[in-house]
Amino acid sequence: MWPCKRTMVVFVVLLSAIISTVTINKVPYDQFKHLMNNSMVEQLFHEEPCACMEKCLAASDDEWFTEHFRQDVPPLLSLNNSVLPDNIYAWWQSLQSTKSKASYSKVIQQLFSVIPGEGHYRDAGPSRCRTCAVVGNSGNLVGSFYGPLIDSHDFVMRMNKAPVEGYEKDVGSRTTHRIIYPESAVHLDNTTHLVLLPFKTLDIQWVTSALTDGTIKRTRFKVIDKLKANKDKVMVIHPGFMHYVHTKWLNIKSRRSYPSTGFLVLMFALHICDEVNVFGFGANSKGTWDHYFEKMPKSFKRTGKHSGGIERQTILKLQERQLINIYTGW
Ligand code: C5P
Repeated sequence: MWPCKRTMVVFVVLLSAIISTVTINKVPYDQFKHLMNNSMVEQLFHEEPCACMEKCLAASDDEWFTEHFRQDVPPLLSLNNSVLPDNIYAWWQSLQSTKSKASYSKVIQQLFSVIPGEGHYRDAGPSRCRTCAVVGNSGNLVGSFYGPLIDSHDFVMRMNKAPVEGYEKDVGSRTTHRIIYPESAVHLDNTTHLVLLPFKTLDIQWVTSALTDGTIKRTRFKVIDKLKANKDKVMVIHPGFMHYVHTKWLNIKSRRSYPSTGFLVLMFALHICDEVNVFGFGANSKGTWDHYFEKMPKSFKRTGKHSGGIERQTILKLQERQLINIYTGW
């Protein structure tokens, strides 16, 4: 297999330089051999980890990043990876209590009788340069004019109910992935991937039901019972991935908290993209959690079940180390 485009370009330039040096200066054979041995030439035959010009995220040699990042943890459930070790299952079950006593393995079987069971996005390599925009719902998007920039990414990931219509100039118009949980679901078009964030077994039961007979009408709250979405494009975040983000990236021991949607989506992007740009993240200094599409009540604080402080610090660290870019509005 040929090396990637960048390697090819370097190869052609270097080869021409060597040929002209040899022919113009009549360089003796041993000097030519020395030229061929230098490290730049060696680099020609070293395959790049991805095809992006700037950097390849997963291949970063940043020490802090490599301590945390685990390429081997699958971000999405598939037929072959759904079994959960006891400790992870127990942690996941503790996130949101429900009365459902359904067997996890049966629920998974039913899920994959409705949506595709194969693995996704385990395709990192020298010919891939996948750019991703992670679009949070912050009010800092208002007046940003980020729309065209967001739309220029290969993947545009949005969350929960965040609308696009009427906000295109600031938030863009494309959505390749919409990450939701049952209580935050909206109907999707045929081209968008629905990515379910399951916080309990009932959430997986809900997606199966919502794509078929619509028997589940309530999880923690009343939910959409029949969802418009392309079944072939539905994916489910792996509970083991959520546990890995919770313990490895946020280093949280408490059972009472778990990562927020935005942080999990950012981590998902980090594991399936080569370049990640982040938009619409950040509460204001008072901790108010405005959305770009609605004002939140003054009393609304983002506390509850997420460790906002540690998440924010981790996101800032990713930016400081130039692993992601954060666009904060103007
Ligand atoms: O509010 P909601 O959970 O729908 O927002 C989705 C994500 O967008 C959050 O988890 C958070 O990461 C991000 N967000 C933010 N600042 C806001 C609102 C949302 O960072 N003011």
